[in-house]
Amino acid sequence: MAERKVSRRGLLTGGAAAAGGLAAGGYAIRRSTEPAGPSGPPALRAGGPAPAVEPFHGVHQAGIATPPQTYAAFVGLDLRPGTSREALGRLMRLLTDDARRLTAGRAGLADAQPELADLPARLTVTFGFGPGLFEAAKLERSRPGTELPRFRIDRLEDRWSGGDLLVQLCADDGVTLAHALRLIVKDARDFGTVRWTQRGFRRAAQPQGQTQRNLMGQLDGTVQPPDLDRSVWIRDGPGWLRGGTLMVLRRISMDLEKWDEADEGAKEFAMGRRIKDGSPLTGRAEHDDPDLTAVDRLGFPVISEVAHVRLSRAADPSLRILRRGYNYDEAIDVDGVSDSGLLFVSYQADLARQFVPIQRRLAETDQLNLWTTPIGSAVFVLPPGCGPGGWIGETLLG
Ligand code: HEM
Repeated sequence: MAERKVSRRGLLTGGAAAAGGLAAGGYAIRRSTEPAGPSGPPALRAGGPAPAVEPFHGVHQAGIATPPQTYAAFVGLDLRPGTSREALGRLMRLLTDDARRLTAGRAGLADAQPELADLPARLTVTFGFGPGLFEAAKLERSRPGTELPRFRIDRLEDRWSGGDLLVQLCADDGVTLAHALRLIVKDARDFGTVRWTQRGFRRAAQPQGQTQRNLMGQLDGTVQPPDLDRSVWIRDGPGWLRGGTLMVLRRISMDLEKWDEADEGAKEFAMGRRIKDGSPLTGRAEHDDPDLTAVDRLGFPVISEVAHVRLSRAADPSLRILRRGYNYDEAIDVDGVSDSGLLFVSYQADLARQFVPIQRRLAETDQLNLWTTPIGSAVFVLPPGCGPGGWIGETLLG
């Protein structure tokens, strides 16, 4: 039976007169390409949140160096068998068009709820290519190194790992994010199936100048690379990838019940930083440099040999990774125990030189492993950004 669309008239007349009622009922799908009307959406007129826009076009994709928004959704898609390079080009043109419109506060083509695009809320849409996409496009030789070794702490589940195409959406408004996510996934579904969706959040407001707290209560994200051109953006290597980067997404579950039982001293020993203000145990303020050589009266290191901060530190600042993680907090079970953790997200130019050595050290002896377990892992190649006439991925697929 042909699918019947729902119209206002159809609802009023019990559905009998529904055929053709869409246009007549005034609820026809608007192929809107126009920005919000001249008077602006009501919330904005009433002095609601600023319709802040993050520029979509640029040398790099947005959503990487962009100051983190409050909400994020990461979607991993598997391409349908037989998806060709040409089809991938069509897909990426379509998704780029959606992203370009939505991030500017304009509805997508065939957007059934164009009003929901009115508030861009710093929306960013970022695309990444997994190994399967290079295989489908028969472009495996253009793929940079994306393999991660298996780490001993890993308890990876397929349902949170892998994926051929990544769509990362971030926004300061949950409704904006949900709408953009639906529209983009809807447009992608002829080409791929959804392998996983991972949603995360950060603090919407917090003390000025302070880094966000994760669900363990730690200030998380203090130390970042001083120079993104050296640590994040790919400058040499394949020409098509210049201005792009590599992304690691690890779903790390936290045993918060067990963490609750640890006293403050144990928590700070594990981290090498204070919970209250994120200062290193050898310093006074969050951004003080940890002194890894300092010892106490008995000659023991003040920042322990197994502290997260010591083991995760790259001796050469140019080898630091850009961390832009989000908390996750899913269903609470019947016993009242939450399923919480961190969507650890890092961007770096070179996995083998930057991410892998850090993760190896952490996997061996990081004290934090007592409370945390990686349950998902995926790596994506994020192509460079594009200009107004271009599309994301054109340097590879075009
Ligand atoms: C649930 C798991 C994790 C938690 C709760 C966590 C938490 C933290 C915290 C609180 C800090 C100190 C403040 C800061 O500089 O941000 C930190 C630092 C850091 N973490 Fe993690 N982290 C986790 C997993 C990881 C993983 C998987 C990696 C990479 C493989 C990593 C790499 C780093 C790095 C590079 C630093 C900065 C080190 C420095 O140069 O001072 N973390 N982490």
